[in-house]
Amino acid sequence: MALLNEHYLKLAAGYLFPEIGRRTAAFAEANPDADVIRMGIGDVVRGLPRPVADAMKAACEELAHDESFHGYPPARGYDFLLEAIAGHEFNARGVPVDADEIFLSDGSKCDSANIQEIFGLDQRVALTDPVYPVYCDSNVMAGRTGPADEQGRYEGLVYLPCTAENGFRPPLPDGHVDLVYLCSPNNPTGAVMTRQDLAAWVEYARREGAVLLFDAAYEAYVTDPEIPRSIYEIDGAREVAVEMRSFSKTAGFTGVRCAFTVVPHELMGSTAAGEAVPLHGLWDRRQSTKYNGVSYPVQKGAAACYTPEGKAAVGELVGFYQENARLMKRDLIEAGYTVHGADNAPYLWIACPGGAGSWDFFDRLLQEAHVVCTPGAGFGAAGEGYVRLSAFQQRPLVEEALRRIRAL
Ligand code: MLT
Repeated sequence: MALLNEHYLKLAAGYLFPEIGRRTAAFAEANPDADVIRMGIGDVVRGLPRPVADAMKAACEELAHDESFHGYPPARGYDFLLEAIAGHEFNARGVPVDADEIFLSDGSKCDSANIQEIFGLDQRVALTDPVYPVYCDSNVMAGRTGPADEQGRYEGLVYLPCTAENGFRPPLPDGHVDLVYLCSPNNPTGAVMTRQDLAAWVEYARREGAVLLFDAAYEAYVTDPEIPRSIYEIDGAREVAVEMRSFSKTAGFTGVRCAFTVVPHELMGSTAAGEAVPLHGLWDRRQSTKYNGVSYPVQKGAAACYTPEGKAAVGELVGFYQENARLMKRDLIEAGYTVHGADNAPYLWIACPGGAGSWDFFDRLLQEAHVVCTPGAGFGAAGEGYVRLSAFQQRPLVEEALRRIRAL
C-alpha cells in the first residue's frame, strides 16, 4: 500500500462546514417539516449583479466563435482585469499596488491555503484564535505542526487569543514568528483592526523579518472610514505583507469563483544561506505550475464590477447584506444577547446565553429555532462560548430567524 501523508491524520476534526452540513442534514431528515434557515456558512444567496451576468454572457458568446475564442488565460490574469483591480481597488484610494503584482485565482480560501507552500517547513507560524480554519489546517497538512492537544491546539503553532477583553484584535506575539495570518474584517468574529493595530504589526514584521499574510476578503464591508481596507495603506507594508481579496462576498462569486492575491515586488524571503529572494517570483512559479487561471467569462464578469453600473450594483448587493447585519445586531441586542462584530463585517459573533457551550447552543438553535449557525469552538479554543451568525441570507428569512431566536 502507498504510504500516506500522515500529517493529515493529525487534523483534529473534519472541516468545519461539512460537519455543520452533516448535522443540519441529519436534523432535516429527522424533522422533514422543520423549515430550516441557514445562517451558518457565509455563502451568498442573491443573484449576480446584472452587469456582471451580462458581461459573462457576452464573453461566452465570444468563446463560441473561432475569431474571438480564448484558450488558456495568462497565468496571473488578463491585463484588462488586473489593471481594473489595481486602479479601482488600490490606486484610486491612494494605495500603491501595480497590476503586475496581482495574481488572480479561484478563491482566497485556496490562496490562503496554498501560500504556505513557498515558505520553509520549519517556519514558526502565528495565527489568531479563533481563526478561519484553512490557515491552520493547511499548515497541519504541510507538516509544520505536531499533534493537537485536547482543546484542538496544534503543537508548534503560536496562537494569538482574540477575546472580548482585547476587542478580538490579535495581540503581538511574545517572541519571534516568521509567518502571521491576519484577517480584517475578521472571519469569524467580525472585528476590525485599526490603523494603529496594523501599523504595530507592520513594525513587528519589519523588526522580526516576518511575513504578514493579510486576508482582506471582507474589506467591502468596512463602513468606518478610519478602518484600513488594505494593509498597503500602512507605510512599510509592501516589504512585509501579502494581501488576499475576493469577489465572493462583494459580487456574489462564491459559486463563480474569482479572487486575487497581491505580492509586492519588494517583499523578500530568505534562503537558508541568507540570500534574499523575491516572493513574487516564487508565487508566480507555484501558480503557473499548479494552476491554470480563472476562465475568460469569469474574468470579464469580474471586470464588469468596475464599470459605473457594476459598481452601483455591487454597492447595492453589499449594502443589502450590511443592512441584514445591522438588523440582526440590533434585534439580538434588544433580545438580551451580547453581540460583537457586524458593524464592519457580515458576521455576528454572539456570546452563548447562560454560559452555554458553542455546540450546545448550535444544537439548541437548530432544534428549537430551526436556525443554523456556526459554533465558535469550530474556529478554535477561544471561540468556545460563542456562535457566529452570517448575514448572507434573504431578508424575509433573516426576519423570520430573528423572530424565532427572540422567541427562544
Ligand atoms: C465562512 O463561512 O467562513 C466562509 O464562507 C468560508 C469561506 O469563505 O471559505
